[in-house]
Amino acid sequence: MQIFEFYSPTHMYFGPNCESRCGELAAARGATKILVVYGGHSAVKSGLLDRVLASLTQAGLAYQTLGGVQPNPRLSLARKGVEQALSFGADFLLAIGGGSVIDTAKAIADGAANPQTDIWEFWLKKIPVTKALPVGVVLTIPAAGSESSDSAVLTNDDTLEKRGLSCPSHRPAFALLNPQLTATLPPYQVTCGIVDIMMHTMDRYFNPITSNDLTDELAQGLLRCVIRNGTRAVEKPGDYQAMSELMWAGSLSHNGLTGLGNIVDFAPHQLGHELSAMFDVAHGASLSAVWDSWARYCYHTNPARFAKFGVQVWGLDPSGKDDETLALEAIQATKDYFHSIGMPTCLSELSCGIQSEDVLDELAVRCTYYGQRTIGSFQVLQREDIRAIYALANH
Ligand code: NZQ
Ligand code: ZN
Repeated sequence: MQIFEFYSPTHMYFGPNCESRCGELAAARGATKILVVYGGHSAVKSGLLDRVLASLTQAGLAYQTLGGVQPNPRLSLARKGVEQALSFGADFLLAIGGGSVIDTAKAIADGAANPQTDIWEFWLKKIPVTKALPVGVVLTIPAAGSESSDSAVLTNDDTLEKRGLSCPSHRPAFALLNPQLTATLPPYQVTCGIVDIMMHTMDRYFNPITSNDLTDELAQGLLRCVIRNGTRAVEKPGDYQAMSELMWAGSLSHNGLTGLGNIVDFAPHQLGHELSAMFDVAHGASLSAVWDSWARYCYHTNPARFAKFGVQVWGLDPSGKDDETLALEAIQATKDYFHSIGMPTCLSELSCGIQSEDVLDELAVRCTYYGQRTIGSFQVLQREDIRAIYALANH
């Protein structure tokens, strides 16, 4: 087994109506003035925002609100939130929503604790984040896993750079997971979430380390569960049991557990981020749109790993087949599954459509941060590899 460090301090509360405990839980962590962050319409329309605010009032907490977070959350709104948090004197951030809202709250928490630093300096890794205000979460969509991850992803609206930042203080203090809150989700968001949860585990599973038995078994079990319940959630929208399984899997898929000891890959995530940055497409859809091409380009590096994935996750029968055959069957099974839940597996199926050669060049160079990095660990990808994968997906 490889050496690892695991720190996942988020206190998770799961079950119907758990969001009513918001005020009490924030107060117990010393909060007095809370900046409540939410998205476009859903939390207002469903009455969730009002219920959460009532819980804060009941706990004797002062609050202000900041709504309007868009999917692929923008740096400009986070900066505005930092100003609001500072002028209000906020000592706690409460996010009501999914990854976009939570990541905005994390960014505001960083900025409010470090008023001398523009937050984008953190995202450019010029300055490390050493302190931040605490963040609590009321989760409304199983997908990004930000409710217990150490990461936050922002898009700079001036430069169209989408960047993630991981640090220990990005782990929320608590997260409230009520699967009933997902009943209002549009079907497309449910399926984007299913892909994202799978990809958080697959981007850890496909890596150079193959000797972590328990980590592999956890990953395989989580994937089987998400695949099964993902189908059920699509066939029976709002199914409480299916959404419960997805919600818990979403948190476990990105808190680090399913990749312990691995040298995680995350190349498909980086490929997808450039598509979201350029075309503002949903995160989950950007991942399924590139995964098939990434897998077909990279599986030769270790066909046995893909074969194991096929047998353990997709239930392929290995008898009489070599690793190469099984690997290709596993890739096809994954592609078929994405299609079965209505997710794209190439650019023409993604809302951005087929792109010119110039755009593929631009995507590739941006993905290397203009020549500053390679991506991936399963197979380390240079700019020309990245360009080739985008080209494979460009149909
Ligand atoms: O804005 P509202 O009206 O709330 O609508 C949202 C939004 O349009 C809607 N929605 C959420 N909960 C709902 C609901 N609609 C009805 N009922 C509900 N209960 O869903 C839409 C998408 O929301 P968003 O927060 O963008 O979804 P998601 O959780 O998929 O987050 C995606 C963002 O997270 C980043 C992605 O890159 C993307 O920017 N990620 C963050 C990660 C992290 N911090 O660890 C890891 C991920 O890999 C990912 O990169
Ligand atoms: Zn993701």
